[in-house]
Amino acid sequence: MPTLLLGVTGGIAAFKSVEVASRLRKLGWEVHVVMTEAATRFVTPLTFQGVSRHPVHVDQWAAGSDSGIEHIDLARGIDCFLVAPATAHTIARLAHGLADDLLTMTALGVRAPMVLAPAMNPKMLDHPATQANLRLLEARGWTLVTPAVGEMACGDVGSGRLAEVEDLVAAVEATRLRDLVGKRVLVSAGGTREPLDPVRYLGNRSSGRMGYAIAEAAAARGATVTLVSTARLPAPAGIEVVPVETAQEMHDVILARYDGQDVVVMAAAVADYRPAERYGAKRKKTTEGWTVELVPNPDILYELGQRKQHQILVGFAAETGDPLEAAKGKLARKNADLIVANDVSVPGQGFEVETNRVQIVGPQGLVADWPLLSKREVGQRLWSLIAALPQFGAGPV
Ligand code: CTP
Repeated sequence: MPTLLLGVTGGIAAFKSVEVASRLRKLGWEVHVVMTEAATRFVTPLTFQGVSRHPVHVDQWAAGSDSGIEHIDLARGIDCFLVAPATAHTIARLAHGLADDLLTMTALGVRAPMVLAPAMNPKMLDHPATQANLRLLEARGWTLVTPAVGEMACGDVGSGRLAEVEDLVAAVEATRLRDLVGKRVLVSAGGTREPLDPVRYLGNRSSGRMGYAIAEAAAARGATVTLVSTARLPAPAGIEVVPVETAQEMHDVILARYDGQDVVVMAAAVADYRPAERYGAKRKKTTEGWTVELVPNPDILYELGQRKQHQILVGFAAETGDPLEAAKGKLARKNADLIVANDVSVPGQGFEVETNRVQIVGPQGLVADWPLLSKREVGQRLWSLIAALPQFGAGPV
């Protein structure tokens, strides 16, 4: 039976965590609860004791743990640590490794998957301090469950409400998913750089974060993952990263490895053109203009589509305008199984940000239309969609 440690902090949404605990128990989880002092002002420990059927832990000075070191006992042997709701204050404490109560002391001992569900006033969530703390936790492997948009208890409207119970339950359940074990997956990430000379290149605004999130989500679910990347982001644990720079290099690496793959996700922003001429030395300034001739690059996804045997092919369509129609066209033209479409002209989605709002198109048309989510959540959900495709089980593995 998997064990969840549920950390509850002092927010008005604490009552929703009672439902989360109850639902997860019904799904077969053993649930233990640790609360901050502030959380007990919103919901009594007795309520959580009732749904979890275990004594609730609040006081770091209380006697009665097996080894006498309660925070170490609580963190030991668990399969998931969920903090919901997570206040701005606890998020800051977790981000900076403070350990001034039982919940935060316990957090430092946790080595299991960690899920964080922020809930606070939209202005507090939006504050650079909170955002920086969230990024820090995300970089350390916490899965963030994006807060919902709506009216807050204080009357403000915006993003900050605790995510829905179903989303919290799904995020915890996702930490147990091993549905990609035995699958070989290749993900491309980042924008290609097409050199003009040793110093200058033509590039684009893709950061590579979406591709990294997709690769990490696949690895967490048990896949053997190759990440072909132009981005110089930290290499995720357990993933083979093949660094490339140009579209041609990316093409050569991916085509050479194509046969052994079950799924290829082309999240990279591949330049359609490259300079016809590449100067061997830095081109000197003159008083004249500089006309650069561009020649087409290979279309990697198109070639993969042409050579497709058993592989599932997923492409991206970054558009400025109506992304759906363009995505449908790309799906057919490139013989892909899914196209992830987003409108990159809308702030907060697409390039150079941590969030994305995507629609996904399959041969039958629109198959998913998700709200603004962290890229990590988009990655998680994308794999659930891929694993549910009829051709997913039909690979050679
Ligand atoms: N792609 C690729 N090779 C290229 C260009 C794009 O493999 N030379 C892949 C991208 O990684 C992405 C998908 O194709 O998964 C869509 O790319 P995009 O450039 O938007 O599609 P195009 O067919 O080039 O259409 P457009 O005319 O909109 O540029």
